[in-house]
Amino acid sequence: MLSEDPRFYGLITVALVTVLLTHQRLGRDLDDMRWQHTIYSRTVNDTYGRPVALKLYQGKVLLIVNIASRCGLTLTQYTGLQELIERYEDRGLSILNFPCNQFGGQMPESDGQETMDHLRKEGANIGHIFAKIQVKGRKADPLYKMLTLNQPEIEWNFVKFLVDRQGKVFQRYGAHLEPSALVDDIERLLK
Ligand SMILES: *[C@@H]1O[C@H](CO)[C@@H](O)[C@H](O)[C@H]1NC(C)=O
Repeated sequence: MLSEDPRFYGLITVALVTVLLTHQRLGRDLDDMRWQHTIYSRTVNDTYGRPVALKLYQGKVLLIVNIASRCGLTLTQYTGLQELIERYEDRGLSILNFPCNQFGGQMPESDGQETMDHLRKEGANIGHIFAKIQVKGRKADPLYKMLTLNQPEIEWNFVKFLVDRQGKVFQRYGAHLEPSALVDDIERLLK
């Protein structure tokens, strides 16, 4: 027995509970802060206009790409993206494709049916397809503002961002780099 006085134990209990509650609150505040600085706080629309909260993808490795239908790079990029999906989707890779018409007007298709018809015609099974957005400039989607924070703006179609399972951008890859070049990095993040 440390003490015969029951008040001693009462005091210890109060102290312990206080420490515990403070700790929990601090933890929650920190979580909130982290939350606001990750892409999981954002909501985007899918190609049919339905809102999708990106927190649905928490824990996945993400490849985020601005796609276009009539770019010189379109077909090789689609092929490469599809190969990545086929190889890694089961292990936790999701590809989030954002059609964008800001580069040479090379994504004229409208959202929904027209975009999906285009992809079907090309046999491109490349992952999740979202609504057309702007990826640079004042009206850029907040997701892209976040992705390009302290970075040069998006330079062309098919710029690729690999995001780790915690929602942090791991690496940005240029338009011309073929998706197969990302294999080592994807393997590393999937581990
Ligand atoms: C989603 O679509 C709605 C309706 O068209 C629009 O008001 C909203 O701004 C869109 N959300 C995003 C994140 O683009």
